[in-house]
Amino acid sequence: MTDETAAPTAAHEPTPPAKPKSVIVLYNQVGEDWYEKLQQVDPSTLPFEPEYPVHVPTVREEYGEVARALRRSGYRARAVNLENDLRRLERVLKRNRPDVIFNLVEFFHDDAGLEAAIAGMYDVYRIAYTGAAPFALSLCQDKGLTKRVLQDHRVPTPRFKVFYEPKLPKRLGLRYPIIVKPVWEDASAGVSRDSVFYEPERLEERVGHVYREYGAIIIEEFIEGRELHVSVWGNDPPEVLPPVEFDFSELPPEYPPIITYSAKWNPLSEVYHKVHTICPAPLPERLLRRVEDVAIRAYRATECRDYARLDIRLKGDKPYVLEVNPNPDLTEGVSFMDSAEQAGYSFDAALAQIVELAGERRPALVPPAEVPGERRPGEDLGLFPKIETPPADPEPGPPPATEK
Ligand SMILES: Nc1ncnc2c1ncn2[C@@H]1O[C@H](COP(=O)(O)OP(=O)(O)O)[C@@H](O)[C@H]1O
Ligand SMILES: [Mg+2]
Repeated sequence: MTDETAAPTAAHEPTPPAKPKSVIVLYNQVGEDWYEKLQQVDPSTLPFEPEYPVHVPTVREEYGEVARALRRSGYRARAVNLENDLRRLERVLKRNRPDVIFNLVEFFHDDAGLEAAIAGMYDVYRIAYTGAAPFALSLCQDKGLTKRVLQDHRVPTPRFKVFYEPKLPKRLGLRYPIIVKPVWEDASAGVSRDSVFYEPERLEERVGHVYREYGAIIIEEFIEGRELHVSVWGNDPPEVLPPVEFDFSELPPEYPPIITYSAKWNPLSEVYHKVHTICPAPLPERLLRRVEDVAIRAYRATECRDYARLDIRLKGDKPYVLEVNPNPDLTEGVSFMDSAEQAGYSFDAALAQIVELAGERRPALVPPAEVPGERRPGEDLGLFPKIETPPADPEPGPPPATEK
């Protein structure tokens, strides 16, 4: 008698994903690292009292630290700098294939638009990698397009206009105050104390300046409320981590309460030391639920994956999404890591969790049938047709008979 309730044989079951063991932390950093210069600065010579360390790690040190953290969690992990060299990429993709690439590449040849192309290469070579797929990486680089997608999914975002030339119409059709930003930059590039306008005076001038520096412009209604960084991770289903709130109360009055480039990245500027973070953001339960709902919907609408950060402002108790950041900064002490820590994940544990999320995509990426046994993995995956030498031009024959 056969047992009808018996579990299906192993042959019919999908192969469970093998746990990733090896990880390459891939990044692309060339030339001088500005943060190296900071090592020479004596903090006591600054014209203000620094609140945070001025000697922050260099990019290479930070990525090396990610690899070290993964080794502490038991992975074979090392950091590799692409240095704008495709042969280095090829070595990772073909010869030294890791189980998972920890994708921290944001530029190639100084072009942020190629971030998606590099992720596309991992897809072509069927290696699992952390974070978003090329589509989300490209979409979220365009703030205007991202906001249209959010609107389509009924995710609240400030009203806005995009301009592809530095000429503004007589009537802007937006309510002041407004903020002027580049459409394609991120990390607060092009956002300074001169970005917020309470009236049209000198607006054209600013628009001209940002246009010359960065190209297309987005002008948004300025939300005067609290600012939150809301980190989300996971895929099935995604989970919202405790939000970080920004405290602008110590900023000198001539600075608008926003996260400018200097406030975010420049330890030599006073504003860097005057903007503080609070985690978890003190939010009443109902408001927190609303923020979480908006964050999840924005994450899904823009097809984020594994981890992302939503920049959100509150107008009263209504959350507005300013921006979606797939693959946000993951170094120690940034918003994402503060939030993960509040949720009970150390720096090491949070990074390991992201590797495991990416690792779940492995079996689909490397179907065994496509890696014949006699070949070493990655040597020749047969993904590309062989390029045959094109046949030589045919010998010239007799001239065509002229038509009568
Ligand atoms: N519509 C807005 N209302 C209020 N503040 C804004 C608005 N847009 C941007 N900001 C401020 O500017 C900062 C940077 O803008 P954001 O859209 O996050 O771009 P990015 O971080 O890519 O430069 C935000 O963190 C916020 O402080
Ligand atoms: Mg932002």
